[in-house]
Amino acid sequence: MGTRIIGTGSCLPETVVTNDDLAKIMDTSDEWISTRTGIRERHLAKDETTAGMSAEAARRAMENAGVTAQEIDLIIVGTVTADQVTPACACEVQAEIGADHAVAFDINAACSGFMFALHIAHAYLQTGVYRTALIIGAETLSKIMDWSDRSTCVLFGDGAGAAVVRADGQPGGLLAFDQGTDGVKGRVLSCPNRSNNNPLVETSRELKYVHMDGQEVYKFAVTQVPASLQKTVEAAHLAMEDIDFYALHQANIRILQAVAKRLKVPEDRFPVSLDHCGNISAASVPILLDEMNRKGLLKPGMKIALAGFGGGLTWASAVLEW
Ligand code: ACO
Repeated sequence: MGTRIIGTGSCLPETVVTNDDLAKIMDTSDEWISTRTGIRERHLAKDETTAGMSAEAARRAMENAGVTAQEIDLIIVGTVTADQVTPACACEVQAEIGADHAVAFDINAACSGFMFALHIAHAYLQTGVYRTALIIGAETLSKIMDWSDRSTCVLFGDGAGAAVVRADGQPGGLLAFDQGTDGVKGRVLSCPNRSNNNPLVETSRELKYVHMDGQEVYKFAVTQVPASLQKTVEAAHLAMEDIDFYALHQANIRILQAVAKRLKVPEDRFPVSLDHCGNISAASVPILLDEMNRKGLLKPGMKIALAGFGGGLTWASAVLEW
């Protein structure tokens, strides 16, 4: 029984901020950002929220799939920037779209969040517990950036992407999957939470933002991602050249180029959205997939490899027959 993505949707905040706009408020330049990362602009939230963008992406995915909210059994949101600790973003989405029968929860696997959600949904669908799932990657990363740290804040953006996933009796769909975690190296990309402030401890009320060792993250990505993709493509009984598109987490153009080189795959099989979106963590892969879907690039029978990688450290890849 295949687990298939039957519809996609995405939602970006209205406000676009270019590299030149950033250069007006901090010591940076379009030249520095675009040559090192490939990013030219990103969308930043003003009134938009993680849950609001998630719900809009979900509505678009359901419309694309031709399913109603009443048919959704499961909602999983991958996010590190839910609007509050509780209720979870997925619960807010359930209420907003009226998916009355759905079970809803969030997961935190940073930039691998959408991929982990896909795998969790697959496991539920294959046991027959649920038939139709809505999986979402959504972030308002601009609220956890230190806007005085030019080495991180220029890299990220806000937005949400969603997919409707269904188990059907047809062959194909999700052919193979790989996931991994390396908690020992987790500190190379971190964002501390609030401190304990109970009466027994002294606490600092200092605000904590994202901290990244960019070079360590780069090394992790360019070794772990090709290894994971190789494993997954082999498990699907395919060769690298059989894959029509490699839709990867959009962290940095140099990472995409290095992965393409290591896999000996032409760079034009790696679609790019980071130029106009920046890095949107868990939302990167579903937004990219939705852009590809709406451009008509995805044809039935095509083989698509997906990969997410990031904080945790976490990584995941999948091969799908569209
Ligand atoms: N504008 C101008 N100058 C800058 C900026 C900026 N925005 N940011 C840093 N610099 C300066 C630094 O101050 C430093 O100056 P110095 O030499 O005078 O000290 C110089 O540029 C080099 O800084 P580095 O941090 O060493 O820059 P590096 O060449 O490593 O590039 C980058 C940084 C692009 C982040 C790189 O490490 C990289 O590609 N990392 C991959 C990881 C990544 O992309 N992470 C994204 C999020 S994580 C994820 O999604 C998995």
